[in-house]
Amino acid sequence: MTITTARDTGTSRTPDDVGIRPRKIRFPFSSMKERFFYQDNALLSAFFAALSSTFPPGEAEFIASVRNYRGQIDDPRLQEQIRGFIGQEGHHSHQHKKANEILRGLGLDAVRLEKHLQRDIDRFLRRKRATPKFRLAMTVGMEHLTAIMAEFVLKNPQVLAPLDEPVRDLLYWHAVEEIEHKAVAFDVYMQTEGDRRYLRRILRLVTVLFSVRIACYMAALLWWAKRRPRWADIRGLWRFMFGAEGMISSIRQPYRDYFSHNFHPWDHDNRDLIEKWQNELRKDSETAA
Ligand SMILES: [Fe+2]
Ligand SMILES: [Fe+2]
Repeated sequence: MTITTARDTGTSRTPDDVGIRPRKIRFPFSSMKERFFYQDNALLSAFFAALSSTFPPGEAEFIASVRNYRGQIDDPRLQEQIRGFIGQEGHHSHQHKKANEILRGLGLDAVRLEKHLQRDIDRFLRRKRATPKFRLAMTVGMEHLTAIMAEFVLKNPQVLAPLDEPVRDLLYWHAVEEIEHKAVAFDVYMQTEGDRRYLRRILRLVTVLFSVRIACYMAALLWWAKRRPRWADIRGLWRFMFGAEGMISSIRQPYRDYFSHNFHPWDHDNRDLIEKWQNELRKDSETAA
């Protein structure tokens, strides 16, 4: 028999040597000049812009959903990690807001999408269905998706190589911190609610909602920019997603791990990626400030 509602009474399972502290890095986005900044591919540029548009409202909701449970956490280490998580997500949100302004200036109106998502979240929060448990489970699911996408870009540097340096650095920095705090919302959920079956159900929902929203946002960006995708754009997007080293092909297995009986985000130890990019980022922060 599978016990699905057992709460974790132990402590946070993030490894001791993983610090969750926000790095105050600024990025000189104003050097961005091209509207279709990813290999002149309209679809892939719209993909990255759509992704960026969702971060400010999305991450604010992640923070709020974790904060709801703060008072129920006795584990001092997890309390400290919650502080780090809030600091990191808050800073990501702030930097993506700036990136979205630049994207709007280039003709990809990520700010309009950001406001659209904010309105949707506000509307949703007024509904009865938006219980603290549902909101936290949504956050845990989204944190799993961001952590496995983060691992994908850090493991495959060729993926972000075509981007301008400030955008590339932004995404690497974001990816590293996503890996550092990947288990915080999960541990909060497991120490309070502990209902694994519900968590798995919500991940399926989150995956569909997120994928559909990104696809619609890409379409909106290209519609507003009056650009119809060319065959080369479609081929490039297909390769990026479904090629042998493509994103979907690479994250399929780590995605599925979430459904295993005793899953924990740190079952998959990728501290090596943090270390590898931390050294890079420290160097960049000195020049970018
Ligand atoms: Fe983030
Ligand atoms: Fe996150």
